[in-house]
Amino acid sequence: MATDKRKVLLVGGAGYVGSVMTGHLLGKGWSVRCLDQLIYKNESCAWPYLINPQYEFMRGDVRDPRIVTQALKDVDDVVILAGLVGDPITSKFPDESHAINRAGIGSLIDTLRNHPVDRLIFVSTCSNYGLVEEDTAVDENYPLAPLSLYAKHKVEMEQKILSLKGKVGFHPTVLRFATAFGLSSRMRFDLTVNEFVRELHLGNELLVFDPKTWRPYCHVSDFSRAVEQVLGAPTDKVAFEVFNVGCEENNFTKLMVVEEILKHIPRSKVTYQERGADPRNYRVNFEKIRRVLNFTPEVSVPQGVNEILAALRQGLFDHVEEQRHFFGNYEIFLPAPHVSDLKRAI
Ligand SMILES: NC(=O)c1ccc[n+]([C@@H]2O[C@H](COP(=O)([O-])OP(=O)(O)OC[C@H]3O[C@@H](n4cnc5c(N)ncnc54)[C@H](O)[C@@H]3O)[C@@H](O)[C@H]2O)c1
Repeated sequence: MATDKRKVLLVGGAGYVGSVMTGHLLGKGWSVRCLDQLIYKNESCAWPYLINPQYEFMRGDVRDPRIVTQALKDVDDVVILAGLVGDPITSKFPDESHAINRAGIGSLIDTLRNHPVDRLIFVSTCSNYGLVEEDTAVDENYPLAPLSLYAKHKVEMEQKILSLKGKVGFHPTVLRFATAFGLSSRMRFDLTVNEFVRELHLGNELLVFDPKTWRPYCHVSDFSRAVEQVLGAPTDKVAFEVFNVGCEENNFTKLMVVEEILKHIPRSKVTYQERGADPRNYRVNFEKIRRVLNFTPEVSVPQGVNEILAALRQGLFDHVEEQRHFFGNYEIFLPAPHVSDLKRAI
């Protein structure tokens, strides 16, 4: 395996996407170091990997330059996943979002300039496209129109990275992920497909805002495959490139997602309401990642619905309400500022 001696740093590697990616990359021969502050009390996501000598876990904040420097030691590649993820959590905690998603990630990117890393993958989002004309499936060149603080910071970090062309020794790639679905040890039931399946499984009435709005979806395991492919691709194919990650078959309206679930749970109660709080509407074109990297996701939305439902029906998620903080991005648990940091601030 060409990757035998490569060590990848997953920043935010104990989250929903990172937990699955860790197992995938370890299985493919990478050494993985995870830097994560565990802001959802998601310690348990590191447990399964600690026995593996190719895995290291570091608890720490991406905003702490000393920790970041330690985490970068002897690392070949870096994947940035960390941050406050999603529109609701960033609008609930705007100050922390500025501090982490903008200042913290920005300073990590600056720090990388002094380290001999090879690849950098910045995980961004298709949310950056915002509201798109009905008949357009947007490609990577479509003008970005971020509607939330979350997407605005993503766009800012993308621009910061892409502006480094010719100025840095490492090879960065921006991946704009579709909305994830599927099982992870840091399960998130605040993501559309996962949430809808659980609500209808529980027999709850589901209120769906703007049912005809489009979104691209992608299974969480397929993101791991995409990252693996980018890390292993020739640099001339991926350096300073932006790729949408997903596939057209998984562009679904919310109504289509609900209809998939109703095939399994037909007597569900669903109500629809136009003009909800979230105006995002976009279908995405994934031709570039298919053409350049020959990447196609393996898991469809209907398969994901089956997967989540099977787990719920076996009682694997019977205690979500008791540990709500773990099962979605609703609340954050950041350590109190250190006394010396407070003094500096004063
Ligand atoms: N989940 C999706 O649907 C989706 C869609 C598009 C893009 N993405 C991107 O994928 C990445 C991962 O998303 P996710 O769903 O796994 O999110 P997540 O919230 O599950 O994971 C984020 C991780 O970052 C960690 N973190 C947060 N602040 C930190 C800090 N200051 N220092 C160190 N670690 C910190 C958290 O503890 C958590 O483990 C994000 O960059 C997100 O923008 C996700």
